[in-house]
This record gives sequence, C-alpha cells and structure tokens, in this order.
Amino acid sequence: MVLKASVQGLEIVDKARKKKGWTKTVTVAWWQDALTTQATLRRFWRGIPIQSESFMNICHAVGISNWQDIVDKITDEEGESLEISYQEDWGEAPQLSTFYGRTEELTQLQEWIVNDRCRLVAFLGMGGIGKTALSVMLADKIQHNFDYLIWRSLRYSTSAKDLLTQIVQFLSNRKIEDLPTEFNSAVSLLIEYLKSHRCLVIFDGAEAIISQGETSEFYKEGYENWGELIKRLGQQRHKSTVIFTSREQFSEIAFLEEETPQVRSLLVSNLDKAAAFEIFKSKGLLDESHWERLLQIYRGNPLFLKLISGYIKNSFSGKVSDFLKLETIFIGDIQPILDASWQRLSILQKKVMFQLATNPGTLETIKLNQSVSTSEILESLQALQRRSLIERQLEGDEVIYGLQPIVKKYVVKQLN
Ligand SMILES: Nc1ncnc2c1ncn2[C@@H]1O[C@H](COP(=O)(O)OP(=O)(O)OP(=O)(O)O)[C@@H](O)[C@H]1O
Ligand SMILES: [Mg+2]
Repeated sequence: MVLKASVQGLEIVDKARKKKGWTKTVTVAWWQDALTTQATLRRFWRGIPIQSESFMNICHAVGISNWQDIVDKITDEEGESLEISYQEDWGEAPQLSTFYGRTEELTQLQEWIVNDRCRLVAFLGMGGIGKTALSVMLADKIQHNFDYLIWRSLRYSTSAKDLLTQIVQFLSNRKIEDLPTEFNSAVSLLIEYLKSHRCLVIFDGAEAIISQGETSEFYKEGYENWGELIKRLGQQRHKSTVIFTSREQFSEIAFLEEETPQVRSLLVSNLDKAAAFEIFKSKGLLDESHWERLLQIYRGNPLFLKLISGYIKNSFSGKVSDFLKLETIFIGDIQPILDASWQRLSILQKKVMFQLATNPGTLETIKLNQSVSTSEILESLQALQRRSLIERQLEGDEVIYGLQPIVKKYVVKQLN
C-alpha cells in the first residue's frame, strides 16, 4: 500500500519536526530512525505517495503516532496505480550515518545516468574508497527518475541464479516466479523488463564474482556466464541503468566503453581535503593544524581515515601531533584491505609495485627494470591504477608513477 500526506498533515509534521529541532530532509537521524532514505523523506514532503511502512515510520520518528491524521485520502484504484508506479528494494544496502564531499562525482553520475541515459556504469577503486557509499547516495538522489530500484550485494549473494530470479521477480511485480533454465533466455527476459520500465539495478561488490588464485577462469564458479550478461546489458538497447561497483574492472565493461557511449566507468578517487577534515572532526580529532600532514600520509580513502582517526582517538586521546611525533606509518586495521588487493595482483604487477616502492619513476625507468614487453607493462600500470594502488604525478611533461605512503609501507613489508 502507498500513502501520501495531506496539506494539513504536512503542517502537523512541520510543527513536530520544529519541536525536535530537525530540518525537513537534512537531519540524518530522521530518515535513519524511520529506516528509510533521504529521497523518500523528500517525496513525503512533496506529498508524493510512498510505501505505507515508510510513511508510518516517518511519522513515528518525529513523535506522531496517529499517522492517519496526516494521510491524504486516495481511492483504492488511485492507490493501486500509484503503487505499481514505483518500487524499491534496497536489499543489503548500508545505512549511511554520514556522507561528506563527492559533489562532483554525484553531479557527473547524475548527468551520465539521467541525462545521457547510460545503460551500464562501473564504479572502480580500492577497498574502502567509498564505492558502496557513493552508490547508495547516488541511488537516493536519482531514484525518482526510475520506476524500479533494486540494490544487491554480490558479496552476500548465494547463487547467480537466485540473484537473477530475485531481480526478475521484483521487476515483474512477482508475475514471473521462475527463470528459464537456459541462461541466455533468462537474460533476454531480464532485458525485456529493463526495456519496458526504467529500472536502476545496482550490483555492489562485484569483484566477489571474480575467481581468486591460480585459475584461467576469470569468473567464479556459478558466474561463468556473467561476462555474457554484462555484455548484453551494455550492448542491447534498454531504458534502464545497471551499476556495478567493484575493486576490479571487468574486461567486458572496459571493452564496451570503447564501443558505446552508454557504457562508462568512474574511478572513485580520494576524498577531497574538506571532506577528509569532516571525518577527522566527526571522530573527535584534535590539533587541526596537523591534519594536513595526517592526510598526506593516509590520503583520502574514507575507510583508512576513519580507522586511523579511531586509532588516534583511542590511543592518543585524539592528539594528532602526539601520533605524528612517532614518525611512523601505522597500518593496523588497514592491513586486511591492502592484503585483499595484494593477493589479487599478478606476478608482474607485484614486481612493478616492488620497483615503485623503492624507485618511483617513468614508464621508461619501469621498462628498464622489467624484462617484458611495453604493452604488458602498460596493462599492469592500468590495472594497478584502476585499483588505486599507484599514483601518477606530472613533473614537467613527464608522468611519474609512485605509491602513496601507506601502500609503500605495506609493499616494503612484503619484501621483508
Ligand atoms: N563520502 C564519504 N563520507 C563519509 N564516509 C564515507 C564516505 N564514503 C565512504 N565512507 C565510509 O567509508 C567506509 C568505506 O566506504 P565503502 O564501504 O563505501 O567503501 P568501498 O569502496 O565500497 O569498499 P569495498 O571495496 O571494501 O566494498 C564506510 O564506513 C563508509 O561509510
Ligand atoms: Mg563496497
């Protein structure tokens, strides 16, 4: 069932929220307490119908128990047509307690997806850089442009078949219960729904379907056909958008990007200084004049910033200068994220990392040290860059490749 607020109802809610000192849509606690999203809260304020559960929760969160007084009467028929007009399933999407910066990325993605109608978009970057958070924030911001929204983590999914079945069931309003057994027919059916409605489908943590270790298969068992699925999602005409967030690029997406303007990748990069400082502030760090130095060491990976801030808060009572006095780069809980990246590297990529840890350099200097073809080196550099493991700096006309301090420290540790 869907409900919408009446004009008088909104006045009651407005009084209640002022009493609590809350803003209309910016107070995170409100939509979080109501187990909903900022976009739903915005729709509520605009008097647009939303799911009844969210409606009641929004009222409860602001202290209104008689939510019936807030409702605008809509007929059953109206309700039914409104109900099928928008459906959302956030699956395992995390609730974001805070989200700083990234306005440029959000604007660009909005342009790609809403204006340019991209069919397939990949968010790439190292663990902790903020791909998942960005996908949630973006979906929240642009969901009103879609008829359906479905968010799924590939990290937690049990089988590829279950996952595709769930999606088709959802997009067909449960008219379809089972998928055709033949994979291509199942994909065709999915694409039929992506053609008939504007759907936003998010596959988060997509590196989970890539096989690990020594195997010639790129995709993990059970997901062998996903290369084909990705290709068809990008190539075939439909009016939906499918987002993959991943620590690694998929060759099919990289290839399609060259072929069709409706397929694009965004390399999610470091948070900017202002956003990083917001994290320091929220974690209760002191000595603001030293924050810049801390940022130089840990760069703008939000997870790294949160972890190091938490560590400084606990072990140094938040005194950044005391921590910096030790003149050490502390890896601590960041280690498992770097381990995960490291384990996925090829032998050549590791060799390049070892070289850059001691000698940052140009393509020429890397070539001199590695006895492989230039194209293999270029491929390695590209793969490392897509995982945010190497940095490029311009010195005059020359591109210098190097490692950020924390990665450098990690790689040197691997040598010993
Ligand atoms: N812009 C941001 N502002 C504040 N916190 C952020 C921001 N982006 C991400 N975070 C936080 O940083 C942490 C890591 O973010 P997230 O899980 O999105 O990274 P990820 O790139 O998806 O990592 P993984 O590859 O491990 O899935 C989370 O706690 C998240 O809430
Ligand atoms: Mg993630």
